[in-house]
Amino acid sequence: MKESNFIEQAKRAREYAYVPYSKFPVGASLVTDSDEVVLGCNIENASFGLTNCAERTAIFKAVSEGKTNFKKLVVVADTDGPVSPCGACRQVISEFCDKDMPVVLTNLKGDAVTVTVETLLPGAFTSGDMDHERYV
Ligand code: THU
Repeated sequence: MKESNFIEQAKRAREYAYVPYSKFPVGASLVTDSDEVVLGCNIENASFGLTNCAERTAIFKAVSEGKTNFKKLVVVADTDGPVSPCGACRQVISEFCDKDMPVVLTNLKGDAVTVTVETLLPGAFTSGDMDHERYV
């Protein structure tokens, strides 16, 4: 499937965003190793801190369906330049996606930049940083 198609799917997901507070809808499309596309949108809550971003919605949906190997993530919002994922999403992306996996950041005007997971969160804290042996 072409990249423009993944972008279109992310835009479609964005239309489902539940954003009564920010009025800032975001969409994401996550492509699995077997070319399935899992969509995500941001879902807000009256208790603001419980908001789930579009990227994390897509990743959590995929993982909850047993899909854990990914080859691309696309994010879209109505931003001036390509949308910038928040810190929490960068950490969750780093948990489930390879360092060199491409992440396409885009907006409704068609500005797009492709970065890697490593670029989004250099030096991410990962499972390898936990040395349980030290404490037993
Ligand atoms: N948001 C996302 O869904 N993804 C991003 O990359 C940036 C921020 C959401 C969270 C909240 O619902 C709204 O955008 C405003 O912060």
